[in-house]
Amino acid sequence: MSQDAIAQILAYYRDLGIKDIYRRTPTVLPSASQPAAKPALPPPPPQPTPQSLPTPQSLSAPQSLQSRGREGAVLLPPELPTMAPANDTLEKIIADIGDCRRCRLCEARNKIVFGSGNPNTKIVFVGEGPGEDEDIQGLPFVGRAGQLLTAMIDNTAKKEGIPITRADVYICNVVKCRPPKNRTPEPDEMEICGQFLFRQLLAIKPKAICALGSTAAKALLGTKDGVMKLRGKWHKWRDIPVMVTYHPSYLLRPYNQNAKRESWEDLKKVLHFVYN
Ligand code: URA
Repeated sequence: MSQDAIAQILAYYRDLGIKDIYRRTPTVLPSASQPAAKPALPPPPPQPTPQSLPTPQSLSAPQSLQSRGREGAVLLPPELPTMAPANDTLEKIIADIGDCRRCRLCEARNKIVFGSGNPNTKIVFVGEGPGEDEDIQGLPFVGRAGQLLTAMIDNTAKKEGIPITRADVYICNVVKCRPPKNRTPEPDEMEICGQFLFRQLLAIKPKAICALGSTAAKALLGTKDGVMKLRGKWHKWRDIPVMVTYHPSYLLRPYNQNAKRESWEDLKKVLHFVYN
C-alpha cells in the first residue's frame, strides 16, 4: 500500500475518533509507576445562563493530557504559569509565547500561528494546529480548510439571519506551530501549547466555544471520544459551553456527505445559542 493511501486511511480513522493505532514501537508509553490517566467523563450539558468566570484552580490541563515524552518519560512541567495571570490579555500571551522553543514543534515551523479575529467576540473556534499555508502566513485557517470554514461561518450566519461574518469571531488552534507533515500533535505538545490556548480563552471569555475536530475536543474536554460521538451536543470547558463539530479538512474529503449536513446543524446550533 502506498504511503498516501495509508495516510488517507489513518486520517479517516482519526476523524472518526479512532486514535489508538499501535505501531510496532509505541512512541508514548505510560511510566510504570503512574498508569495512563483515564479520560474524564463529559460534563453535564450547560444551561444557556450568564457564565461565571472560572476559578484559577480550574486552570490545569485535563488529566488525560498529562505530559509524557516520546519514550514514556514524564516531562518536567513547561516553564509556564499553570494559572492565568490576573488581567491577562492576548498581547501578554503573545509576549509570553515569544520565540517559543518549549517543544519540538519549533524545529520545523516557519511562523507561530497565535490566532486571529475579534478579541471581543462571543464565540471562539478552536482547530488542531497550523497547516502549510498557515505556517507561511502566520494566520489560522487560511488554506483550503480555512476557506471552507470561512464560507461555513459566513453562509450559515447569513441564512440564519445572524449579522456576523468570520471577521466577528476569533479563531485559533490547540498548537500554535505546524506539526511536521501535518501530523496530529503529540500529548505533550498539546499540553504545553494548550496552556496558551486556555489563557486565550480566559482572556476572551466567549459565550461559547466551537471545537473543530477531535484534537480540539480532546484538548478542551479531556476525552478520547471521537467527534461522531461528541458532535451536536453541548459540553463544557470550565464554565464555557462547547459545541464539538467536524474539522473542516474532514469535510473536504469526498467520502462523507452526511458530515457536511451535520456540521451545518452544529454551526446553526452554536450560532443561535450565542447570538439569540
Ligand atoms: N487546520 C487547523 O486545525 N488549523 C488551521 O489553522 C488550519 C488547518
